[in-house]
Amino acid sequence: MKALPNHYYTRRAEFLEERERIFSSMWVCIGFASDAPNAGDVQPLEFMELPLLMVRDSDNTLRVFHNVCRHRGHVLVSERGTVKQSLRCPYHSWTYTLEGKLARTPNIGGVGINDVEGFNRQEFGLVQVDSVEWHDLVFINLSGNAPAFEDFIAPLEQRWKPFWGAEGASLLRLAEAHSSIRLEVQANWKLAVENYLEAYHLPTVHPALNQISPLAEHEIHFDEDFAGQLSHCYTLGAGGGRHLPVFPSWPEALYEEAHYPALFPNTLLGLQADHLFVMVIIPLAHDRTLEETRLYCVGDEAVSEDFGDLRQAQHGFWTDVFAEDIGVVTGMQAGRASPGFDGGVLTPVMETATAQFHQWVAQRVGENLGGN
Ligand code: FES
Ligand SMILES: [Fe+2]
Repeated sequence: MKALPNHYYTRRAEFLEERERIFSSMWVCIGFASDAPNAGDVQPLEFMELPLLMVRDSDNTLRVFHNVCRHRGHVLVSERGTVKQSLRCPYHSWTYTLEGKLARTPNIGGVGINDVEGFNRQEFGLVQVDSVEWHDLVFINLSGNAPAFEDFIAPLEQRWKPFWGAEGASLLRLAEAHSSIRLEVQANWKLAVENYLEAYHLPTVHPALNQISPLAEHEIHFDEDFAGQLSHCYTLGAGGGRHLPVFPSWPEALYEEAHYPALFPNTLLGLQADHLFVMVIIPLAHDRTLEETRLYCVGDEAVSEDFGDLRQAQHGFWTDVFAEDIGVVTGMQAGRASPGFDGGVLTPVMETATAQFHQWVAQRVGENLGGN
């Protein structure tokens, strides 16, 4: 199948069009609720050139706002941290509550006069973005018009229920000191997703992963808003005997099954019997992407000291695998500057999930790739 032409990777105009036509209209993951666990925690982030802000309000509800002061548009919060009760703009000290209400406008009516006739503070609260916490993941809908989040996530939940069971997600625990992997990649966001969707590169790029989960044991599946791979030979504890605790309801006969779907457009997941990883692809610019990953174990015992070595080994393993992908993703970005290439081809057996993703993007941006 024909693939998306180069300009979808190399031009800012297309990037902004994708923000409008893909990312704004649906639910997209922007990060992790555990980055702002307590009341007053603030976490600014950049997402597709938009300054956003996660705030844990006084009722412990996580809210997402456009991170911009309603006065003259200065970015409100520039560093992660904890505030006592309010958010103060660094320019003229307008102050907002954790719920986004404009609370104070110092000297607005002259020195020492904090009100002025004709100015109604209620009209100048922070602009909130619809958001949902799904376990530790924070999803937003920028347009406010997306269908219900429950409908969006239902196909994935149904697919995983036979494995992690009804209580599966409630057992997830951040793998403490070994829970994060952060990579910045000089490439368009789509290349990271496309690469995740095929195992064709395993033997060349990930020789160690290919040893324990060989290419021949991968199967591709599709759904409307996600696609991915099922591996049939995941090895608990990488064959070393001991392994981390597993989901209690995961059928023993299926310990070797591992799920690697991409929830379109930007959430890459890896569910195994003894852990979950989530990589959120955060597009920063048309040629710059942040990959934020968290690793989760199963149950309280898994995060006890007894399993520290296994958590560390797991973190090391995925750190190496994800780092191995950086070179190929940036290599594909570099190739898209060439007049000797314009999208290339997606092969008919190994890259069907990547092809599905190209079609999914193409339909939303009005590009015709000419079918299969
Ligand atoms: S821009 Fe924020 S107080 Fe003036
Ligand atoms: Fe890879």
